[in-house]
Amino acid sequence: MFSDLHVSSFQQRETPFFYYDLGVLDRSLQAIKTHALDKGFHVHFALKSNNNPRILSIIKEAGLGADCVSGNEIKVALDAGFTPEEIAFAGVGKTDKEIKVGLAKDIFCFNCESVQEIQVINELAGQAGKVAPIALRINPNVDAKTHKYITTGLEENKFGINENGLDKVLDLLPELEHVNLIGIHFHIGSQISELAPFERLCIRVNEISTHVEEKGFSLNHINVGGGLGINYNEPDTQAVPDFEAYFNLFEELIHLKDGQELHFEIGRAIIGQSGSLVSRVLYIKEGIETNFAIVDAGMSELIRPALYQAQHHIDVLTSEKQGKTYDVVGPICESSDTFRSRMDLPELERGDLIAIRSAGAYGQVMISKYNLRPEVGTIFSDELS
Ligand code: LLP
Repeated sequence: MFSDLHVSSFQQRETPFFYYDLGVLDRSLQAIKTHALDKGFHVHFALKSNNNPRILSIIKEAGLGADCVSGNEIKVALDAGFTPEEIAFAGVGKTDKEIKVGLAKDIFCFNCESVQEIQVINELAGQAGKVAPIALRINPNVDAKTHKYITTGLEENKFGINENGLDKVLDLLPELEHVNLIGIHFHIGSQISELAPFERLCIRVNEISTHVEEKGFSLNHINVGGGLGINYNEPDTQAVPDFEAYFNLFEELIHLKDGQELHFEIGRAIIGQSGSLVSRVLYIKEGIETNFAIVDAGMSELIRPALYQAQHHIDVLTSEKQGKTYDVVGPICESSDTFRSRMDLPELERGDLIAIRSAGAYGQVMISKYNLRPEVGTIFSDELS
């Protein structure tokens, strides 16, 4: 993954920074084109995973749409060139102001998560003299078997409408003149590493879509959300997730009725493996059972290890000396500011460069200002010199 050119170029730059390998992104987009877009499926890129303007414009050019969860994400998607008809707007807590942005821009669809939200959209659409296209986000009660903080499809969950409440919403809809039900939406969680939960999702989607149609609604759009996981342990051996198996599963198992279109909202699997957080070793400190490598990136730049106990692979770019055991830690005043514990790495010294891999999704977007940390830079693979 990293050549001498990378290392000499990185050595001249201020660390930490995010590095994006556009070749890896391109390969993912090619796979999506072959296995989804060419079959007529719609893939919306989840901006919440990465909203870098250059990345967005590459993804837009590849023919994907956008999945936004705030008014600002809608604006950024439009700035990157996505057309309103390609933008889905999700989120459990849309503000009036954000709903008005979506209405003013005539976006493709509002994915709605509660009765009250639908009533508010109806009211605001009425005031704007419009009819808002909506999809119901329904909780299929499928366990995604992932970290509990990123499991979203279970019955008792802040997200979505659960099945007990579905009929009540359907009964209410005919009274609301300024919303038009165009689809149903699901998202069971993120970093799902097996296909079995998606299989269960497909079964539930078929049952629920039949039920909604039997209640007299015609659904043009079935949106199955995102969630396909990536291999954090071996980012190079599996730089491109198995999109073929993933999309084939939905193609085989979802029974689309005439005129129905299938939508996905994918973030991590598209951009995760392209990004690395490059950091420099500041100090080495001997502990009792381990050595601490204190680096200049912290949880303020990549919060996933602290928040989800995520283990990102680490490459040492500037040392091949015989190995030692390290805890790779950041400078933030929290013990959870640890990227890896008890990891065997080449012997490190002050000034060595490391790359914390698979940081393209939910990395740079989750940066915080904690400890008043400085801004981090962004470097793309075609800018190396
Ligand atoms: N659609 C909806 C409604 C979502 O909530 C999400 C992610 C996606 C699509 C995209 O999911 P993906 O394909 O990226 O798995 N910060 C966490 C992940 C949070 C995911 C939130 N929702 C992490 O770093 O693991």
